[in-house]
Amino acid sequence: TEPVKVALLGCGTVGSEVTRMLLDDPGELAARVGAPVELAGIAVRRPDKHPELPQELVTADATALIDSDVDIVVELIGGIDPVRGWLLSALRKGKSVVTGNKALLSEHAGELADAAAESGADLYYEAAVAGAIPLLRPVRESLAGDRITRVMGIVNGTTNFILSAMDSTGAGYAETLDEATRLGYAEADPTADVDGYDAASKAAIIASLAFHSRVTAADVYREGIAGISSSDITAAKSLGRTVKLLSICERVTEEDGSESVSARVHPVMIPRSHQLAGVSGAFNAVYVEAEAAGQLMFYGQGAGGAPTASAVLGDLVSAARNKVAGGRGPRESAHAALPVRPMGQT
Ligand code: HSE
Repeated sequence: TEPVKVALLGCGTVGSEVTRMLLDDPGELAARVGAPVELAGIAVRRPDKHPELPQELVTADATALIDSDVDIVVELIGGIDPVRGWLLSALRKGKSVVTGNKALLSEHAGELADAAAESGADLYYEAAVAGAIPLLRPVRESLAGDRITRVMGIVNGTTNFILSAMDSTGAGYAETLDEATRLGYAEADPTADVDGYDAASKAAIIASLAFHSRVTAADVYREGIAGISSSDITAAKSLGRTVKLLSICERVTEEDGSESVSARVHPVMIPRSHQLAGVSGAFNAVYVEAEAAGQLMFYGQGAGGAPTASAVLGDLVSAARNKVAGGRGPRESAHAALPVRPMGQT
């Protein structure tokens, strides 16, 4: 079978994990997809900074790589320009796009989705929100027949890491932020995390899918954690509470009976007995409430290279399966690889 050719744009914390997963076990990936998945090239700004990568794959010319005969473009660079133009051009040529670019999606998801719909390409971005946690697919697909009323929770790992360290060890704000950066949780510019921009982008992405609307980051009320001091945390503790940065997206009924969407991100003092109070480190947790389903909770690693790469690979497999089978939609693995123990023997 013809291989599915993949271009990777960006090779930072997440991109390097994606590369490792693509190169480590190509046989297993091929079995899942029904065709070999070939990493055709990796575009980075400074090729000389990546001696660890197979040099024949590395290029500084992202547009040439996108315009080559690749089938799928995986974008893990971030930021709006020049990435927006690159991805639009890929989609218009019928190449599927997998991206974790929160900033771009929170401004231009509609434009990208339209380009994908027009050419019949796939646009997947599970990695953009809540790291490893499958959240966007359930919201977009599994719950598409229900009526979501509210999506609320912790969607930024860096600030949750900082707040939970301040609460549990009394560590200071600046030192925990440095550690979050060292561990690969924080954005290249960590003010995006601490000032709530990252969470606001994610809220816009979630609200757009949950409420079948076009919500941009500018529509989201935003307050970060930069103003939270150790004494605020101590005060919260003495009240039996802890501080969490929450993202809250709701369907609201106006006075005239019409409905609209509201999204906000801000620190909240929550009771220590609340389930969200127990979410620590770079973990994320999100409640989704829908009329028929009731309340669902999604929990897991919300930041970091490997967890986020897991979401990217999932999207890549979906896009590759669609490419191999033609058409779109969720598909099963091409082959069952593992034998089954009789009657669940352990
Ligand atoms: N900087 C982000 C966070 C990475 O801390 O949540 C995951 O999107």
